[in-house]
Amino acid sequence: MKNSPISARIIGLGAYTPAKVLTNADFEKMVDTSDEWIMSRTGIKRRHVVGDSGEAASDLAIAAARDAIAAAHISPEEIDLILIGTVTGDMKTPSTAVIVQKALGAMNAAAMDINAACVGFLYGLTTAKAFIESGMYKTVLVVGVEVLTSITNYQDRTTCVLFGDGAGAAILRREDTANTGILSAYIAADGSHTQLLYVTAGGSRQKVTVENMNNGSTGIYMNGSEIYKFAVRNMEDAAKRVIADAGIKPEDIDLVIPHQANIRIIDSLAKRLHVPDEKLFVNIQEYGNTSSASIGIAMVEAQQQGRMKKGDLVLLLSFGGGLVWGAILFRM
Ligand SMILES: CC(C)(COP(=O)(O)OP(=O)(O)OC[C@H]1O[C@@H](n2cnc3c(N)ncnc32)[C@H](O)[C@@H]1OP(=O)(O)O)[C@@H](O)C(=O)NCCC(=O)NCCS
Repeated sequence: MKNSPISARIIGLGAYTPAKVLTNADFEKMVDTSDEWIMSRTGIKRRHVVGDSGEAASDLAIAAARDAIAAAHISPEEIDLILIGTVTGDMKTPSTAVIVQKALGAMNAAAMDINAACVGFLYGLTTAKAFIESGMYKTVLVVGVEVLTSITNYQDRTTCVLFGDGAGAAILRREDTANTGILSAYIAADGSHTQLLYVTAGGSRQKVTVENMNNGSTGIYMNGSEIYKFAVRNMEDAAKRVIADAGIKPEDIDLVIPHQANIRIIDSLAKRLHVPDEKLFVNIQEYGNTSSASIGIAMVEAQQQGRMKKGDLVLLLSFGGGLVWGAILFRM
């Protein structure tokens, strides 16, 4: 177990999801699918989407961050670093993080985006922990935000039913006490599986052209069944690593919050890790897969429902395109 006298503690959380909702019945009108197929294969009923509201990633991130700042009882000027996990930022450049910095008035903060697909929030929390424990920064804002609907191909039934938009945010602060806050963090990557999830066009390899837009190359491609196998195996491994590293007993964990991508992945994982239903947080039915936003949104709901209280030991698990995956064990 780490014996550093410095800990990175989560002192405030916030979340935001757009008001517009797409139901399974809406998708039945758009592609060849059914409520029964979507529910039984994914567990998803509804997703919140920006639709034509004009909202971009920074708008969602700012709303979530403001809630987190209020919950943490800090002022924006106290923030030293802003980390935003996203693959659907407002623009290619500047980063969404600097747009958020300006809007919050966090003018003493450095700011950058992290592209780690659905694991962006855990990559952000881990980076925040490293900066805090090194002594470099005291207060860090981490946001996971996606407007996945901006890169969704609504003609591809194998992917379009899965995704939603949203943001989750956390304020982390240095605490000069050992073994509190984030006890252990593990992030990993295996770039030999890039072919399982990608967006072909829109980067420097293939530019956006009318042809690419018409043939779906600007939307997400995914090999769902291959990702499924990696997801369960790698999250199980990550969970075991942080549990061993923190020197705790698995049964001492109060709540497990996995990335909300597919109910069957969550159930298989829970079975392998022997997590009972009452210790497992699931809200995929309401939001679908919001990528890097999913865990932050779930943390806020868990707190609101009294399922994540001060002192609780919480395990976060995630995986995503890359492939990337990770786990975080923290004391709330
Ligand atoms: C995407 C996913 C739900 C698909 O479920 P699956 O059981 O693997 O289904 P398959 O891809 O094998 O497809 C089975 C059949 O359903 C069909 N199908 C796919 N999407 C469908 C939809 N929305 N409605 C109806 N049928 C659909 C397929 O075309 C296929 O038909 P076929 O047998 O005639 O070819 C599942 O693989 C998954 O969730 N994987 C993980 C992906 C993930 O989490 N990605 C995010 C990374 S962060």
